[in-house]
Amino acid sequence: MLNVKGLRAGYGAVPVLHDVDMTVAPGEAVAVVGANGAGKTALVRTLAGLIRPMAGSIVKDGAEIGHVPGHRRFRHGIGVVLENRNLFAELSVRDNLRLAEQAGKRARGGALRYTYDDVCDLFALLRERADSAVGLLSGGQQQMVAIARALLLQPDLLIMDELTTGLAPRIVKEILAVLNQLRARGLSILLVEQSVAIAADMTDRAYVLSVGRVIHEVRRGEWQALLNDKTLVKAYLHG
Ligand SMILES: Nc1ncnc2c1ncn2[C@@H]1O[C@H](COP(=O)(O)OP(=O)(O)OP(=O)(O)O)[C@@H](O)[C@H]1O
Ligand SMILES: [Mg+2]
Repeated sequence: MLNVKGLRAGYGAVPVLHDVDMTVAPGEAVAVVGANGAGKTALVRTLAGLIRPMAGSIVKDGAEIGHVPGHRRFRHGIGVVLENRNLFAELSVRDNLRLAEQAGKRARGGALRYTYDDVCDLFALLRERADSAVGLLSGGQQQMVAIARALLLQPDLLIMDELTTGLAPRIVKEILAVLNQLRARGLSILLVEQSVAIAADMTDRAYVLSVGRVIHEVRRGEWQALLNDKTLVKAYLHG
């Protein structure tokens, strides 16, 4: 489904990511973990089409999408929740979601994967606060809107950058429970996380990023070994 090969990308002329290879198969949940400054956000922004690759390829379902601009990547089934969420703060929750739903409907010929009602069933808040301006919601509530909006663009792969950082534990629990439901429905997930505990809990396998390179792969069933490997965790993941 997603196949990244030899990816080099960065800010301006300065590469931040070097020779990154990674894959996500249909239905898989994969994590990218790494310390502050490892290049996680640069990777997400490159996959989202906000940073243009300097070298390498990004193939989604057989199509090279490295050159496809960010606002068209949802047409390739890629949904993204960015660190800063990028919602329309002055618009209501409903309007933020309806705009996404309209775009998603236009892009997707067949039956919708997620409808407005579906996402409201996932997060009760979306119905309760439908008329509130998004800018008035808490960070955690905004994150729920951001996830719902991404889903309404009808992705089969959802890429999320530090979804739960800085949120209250109760909200983190609610969001992770929804992610588990989405996984069970077959959505593929690329979860970028600083918290190894959350990554281990939520995904099948992982890539460890350090200074812009994949320095280690955690394969299926190997999460516990990584958590036990204190040297690696200490050196590359900040304990
Ligand atoms: N706008 C920018 N211009 C130039 N360099 C940047 C910019 N944003 C980040 N960098 C640099 O790119 C590198 C990777 O940063 P990135 O934000 O991708 O890391 P990260 O793994 O997401 O870190 P964090 O866990 O803090 O979110 C860092 O060395 C950082 O200083
Ligand atoms: Mg980041």
